[in-house]
Amino acid sequence: MTVNIHTLFDEDAIALRVSALADEIAEGKPQKLLVVAVLKGSFIFAADLVRAMHRSGLEPEMEFIHLSSYGAGTQGSDNIRVLRDVESDVNDRDIILVDDILESGRTLAFARERLNKRGARSVKVAALLDKPERRKAAISADYVGFACPDKFVVGYGMDMGHAWRQLPFIGYVVPSEETAADDKTGE
Ligand code: IMP
Ligand code: MG
Repeated sequence: MTVNIHTLFDEDAIALRVSALADEIAEGKPQKLLVVAVLKGSFIFAADLVRAMHRSGLEPEMEFIHLSSYGAGTQGSDNIRVLRDVESDVNDRDIILVDDILESGRTLAFARERLNKRGARSVKVAALLDKPERRKAAISADYVGFACPDKFVVGYGMDMGHAWRQLPFIGYVVPSEETAADDKTGE
């Protein structure tokens, strides 16, 4: 099956934005900075962001949390499972939670509360993409890469049924009947 992917944000646009986000984070002068990447979708964004942070003069340490959420339409945090938890001590540290997309906000609200309960000095959220119209939890990102149209996007770490994480750009899959009119083929 031929699949066409329409580019929303290309490599250059992403690199510029990631570098600007690192500068913004550095302006906040974080103390004992710990970057916590929410697996799996944030792995490429987080990898680029910590290197941009280095160029902005920061010395972040890096951690990972893997959460799975399920049960569409359900409320609260009891439908979120921790598949892999942060191992480092977070007490009295400034934490940046890094995720690919802030959508309902349930997973990030859950992760933020968990780190706050463990005594973090602050927990801020850096989301590559924001879909504010889909929000269910009371959470907003402190640092946002791009406002995202209400489409299912892939690439730069984000998947559709485990595929397309490897794309160096962010795009959306164009259904095949639309591709004749819109001939932008994903490389
Ligand atoms: P929520 O904010 O708790 O609803 O979780 C958002 C998560 O759902 C993101 O971190 C992604 O892993 C996934 N997600 C939401 N929208 C998309 C999309 O358009 N493409 C790929 N993954 C998505
Ligand atoms: Mg995710």
